[in-house]
Amino acid sequence: MVGATGKLIDTYGRVHNNLRISVTDRCNLRCTYCMPEEVVFMDKHELLSFEEITRFVAIAAPLGIDKIRLTGGEPLLRRDLPRLVAMICAVPGIKDVGLTTNGILLAHQAQPLFDAGLRRINISLDTLDPDRFRQLARRDGLDKVLEGIHAAKKAGFNPVKINAVSIRGVTEHEVVPLANFARLHRLEMRFIEYMPIGADHWERDKVYFAHEILDQLEQHVGPLMPAQDYDPKAPAMDFDYVDGGGRVGIIASVSRPFCMSCNRVRLTADGKVRNCLFALDEIDLKPLLRDDAPVEEIAALVRANVWAKWEGHEINTARVVKPERTMHTIGG
Ligand code: GTP
Ligand code: 5AD
Ligand code: SF4
Repeated sequence: MVGATGKLIDTYGRVHNNLRISVTDRCNLRCTYCMPEEVVFMDKHELLSFEEITRFVAIAAPLGIDKIRLTGGEPLLRRDLPRLVAMICAVPGIKDVGLTTNGILLAHQAQPLFDAGLRRINISLDTLDPDRFRQLARRDGLDKVLEGIHAAKKAGFNPVKINAVSIRGVTEHEVVPLANFARLHRLEMRFIEYMPIGADHWERDKVYFAHEILDQLEQHVGPLMPAQDYDPKAPAMDFDYVDGGGRVGIIASVSRPFCMSCNRVRLTADGKVRNCLFALDEIDLKPLLRDDAPVEEIAALVRANVWAKWEGHEINTARVVKPERTMHTIGG
């Protein structure tokens, strides 16, 4: 039954066209909700080469993958990333290549990435306050991120999406300033419910929920309406300001899980395929990609991995098990 059609389908009928590729586990920040302060990073030769990543993409495209997002750690720490972007864009069937970055190194790389074919960019920014930034990221860097955001706009990325993680008592006071900043600069602001995937202790009480974020926005920024082109299957619930001031997205992974419409599969920097952000098992394709194993052998393993995908994460239940990998080694 597995892979009868050749496409990446699971037992719940979900079709997978979206591949998230982590290109490194290294990061130049240490966000508390994502990774520990002290980390042993992967040895450089553990990482897939650009050629190996592109080989994987070329195998995945005929299985229905047409959308790619490059992630990290911090993907811009991987040297010569525009070369990888160009290699992936050249794979027949790939229609859309995006990147999620913390923005620290973006000022100098935005234009070369755009020129290489990258069109979609999401930049993480949880606060506009330098002290709060240092507290959350355990490093300085707010100015660099802001420069990176402006460089992305200048290079031609549209939309530029800004991701902020919403943690009760930590970032709830950032909602209004961030929303106003995004309106001013014509950015698409997205607030993300805090998930149990970092290194720190997570509890449900720490999640600052979608409905609370929306209340703040409507009370202090402006009335919102569901976006006309709102896609109920997408992770973000999109809203537009009634006054035409732009768009806000809410990614409510905890209070409104979107697992039943999930179309994502992941490749880690060390060549493991994961069928869910919260997957507890993965398959190691690195030896096969390195040894030039037959395409059909690799494709069959990926199909089987997707076929075996569970119904979804169980963040809302006592059954939830935190994966061994923390976010920085998965890429979100
Ligand atoms: P778009 O293609 O622009 O919609 O990007 P995206 O929102 O899918 O990607 P991004 O890397 O910006 O991720 C935004 C947030 O969504 C991060 O917190 C991710 O961890 C989270 N996210 C991405 N994919 C999944 C997923 O499959 N499940 C869950 N629960 N969260 C996810
Ligand atoms: N919960 C929700 N989002 C998270 N991210 C990192 N850790 C978490 C978490 N524990 C977000 C980052 C980045 C994206 C890849 O994932 O802010 O925008
Ligand atoms: Fe680095 Fe992004 Fe994780 Fe922050 S969320 S530590 S920027 S990978």
